[in-house]
Amino acid sequence: MTGTIRKDVLILGAGMAGLTCALALPEELDILLVSKIPIPTGSTYLAQGGLAAALSEDDSFQLHLRDTIIAGGGLVDEEAAIDIIKSGPRLVNQLSQWGAVLEGAYGSGKGGMEGGHSIRRVLHHKDRTGRLISEVLCERCKGKKNISILQPAFAVNLLTASREMPELVENATDRCLGAHILHDGRISTVLAGETVIATGGAGKVYRYTSNQDSATGDGIAMACRAGLPIRNMEFYQFHPTCLFHPDKRNFLITEALRGEGARLLNLEGQRFMENYDPERMELAPRDVVARAIDSEMKRLGNDHVLLDATHLGREKLEESFPEVTEGVTSVGIIPWLEPIPVVPAAHYCIGGIDASTDGSTAMNGLRAIGEASCTGFHGANRLGSNSLLEAGVMGLKAADSIPDTVLKPDIFSARDWTYGRAEPLKENVLVDYAWAALRNVMWDYVSIVRSDRKLHRALRIIDVLADEIEEDYWSLIPTVELLELRNICTVSRAIVRSALRRRESRGLHYTLDCPGQKQLPRDTILKIQL
Ligand code: SIN
Repeated sequence: MTGTIRKDVLILGAGMAGLTCALALPEELDILLVSKIPIPTGSTYLAQGGLAAALSEDDSFQLHLRDTIIAGGGLVDEEAAIDIIKSGPRLVNQLSQWGAVLEGAYGSGKGGMEGGHSIRRVLHHKDRTGRLISEVLCERCKGKKNISILQPAFAVNLLTASREMPELVENATDRCLGAHILHDGRISTVLAGETVIATGGAGKVYRYTSNQDSATGDGIAMACRAGLPIRNMEFYQFHPTCLFHPDKRNFLITEALRGEGARLLNLEGQRFMENYDPERMELAPRDVVARAIDSEMKRLGNDHVLLDATHLGREKLEESFPEVTEGVTSVGIIPWLEPIPVVPAAHYCIGGIDASTDGSTAMNGLRAIGEASCTGFHGANRLGSNSLLEAGVMGLKAADSIPDTVLKPDIFSARDWTYGRAEPLKENVLVDYAWAALRNVMWDYVSIVRSDRKLHRALRIIDVLADEIEEDYWSLIPTVELLELRNICTVSRAIVRSALRRRESRGLHYTLDCPGQKQLPRDTILKIQL
């Protein structure tokens, strides 16, 4: 790819949201789908549990809405939630038509169970749901003439009218013109009538995460730098059960196992959830379970707890949970004979770019969909398996509305990237140190249980690192590692600043200094101009 590229639609990210959007757009539109890692991969690919949708006869959209609201700690945007949940059946039909047929669809009674759901409604493909969806949708995209796929390619920054073509700013509303894309060692200018951010979450801001290395919040950071409002970043979801093993750090142990009766035990063998949520036990919403595990580990001075799924037996585990069974046996744990050591780890970014359910944002020509966005659907804590639902529905809804707003990019122009006096990085330790420092400070000071003291300390450290990273950004030839570091720094700052603003404990934000809930402005909206 050389020089300036012009496309009708530029989609950044090839997970559930980006792929769904690309496939649902009309074939007359010329689309560039950019993935920073070779597809199929990413958080969608790793999704084990499934996709929540109210399809069985004994379920209803009202019941799914009620469960979403309860899990969301009073902060769910009901309008967004109704819209997304009601669109679930359309998404499931569309996926089936594309070839991704999920178990539990159409009332077959095989829907999975997860925490916070009052009924079996998690559609799945054993415990490899995301893998099936990613593989099927990627293959379809590869077969479409109007979709070009650029991979591995990294979106560096958004191009905006306020910087490049001020005459296109309408009534003080900026317009996105595309992005600078790093591919094959050079940075190209991609101009697009509509740009869609579908870059996923940012688990890599924390030392321990269930996410792949690519989850560095690139889209959120880019939008932040372009002056877009970023919403509710204080709510970072920690999945209660990731494998605790030195050789397999980011391996998820699906919540669906708890849905089938797996029990959490502390290292004294006690089923401790009875002390934290005696009614819902292991199937309480994730914020409750993750906090309970954190508290037990601190109380007993242990670095993990246990998940006992031995009651399921070898046949059931191998048949219904092949991903988990293969994953844990590969490191010598036999799940039908012994409990699995687990710890909570950063899993899902609830906050993100403030967006409507069709992805529209405060900037013309820019949409944000899936985990990179925040519609308010998840409130202060996400109900398991609502994320694939939201990502897919937003992809479809964005594709419905883009043809009405897309401009032909022929009229756009933007400056090409200039390297100036930038030099190659000679001392890798500069970047490596900052990566480790950021992820450690976020884990130690800004994870499951917070306090003002820890948050203020974290912010001071992050501010120092941010200055150094900016200095490197302007003086060194950009590499993916450096650009990702800059992005996790921006996202970390947004999480800490949002956490400091929320003077209460709610959902995933728990602080020792304000332990109760308060009547506050509903959302935390940040605009950070860097
Ligand atoms: C899981 O399988 O436990 C993860 C599902 C999700 O995060 O929604």
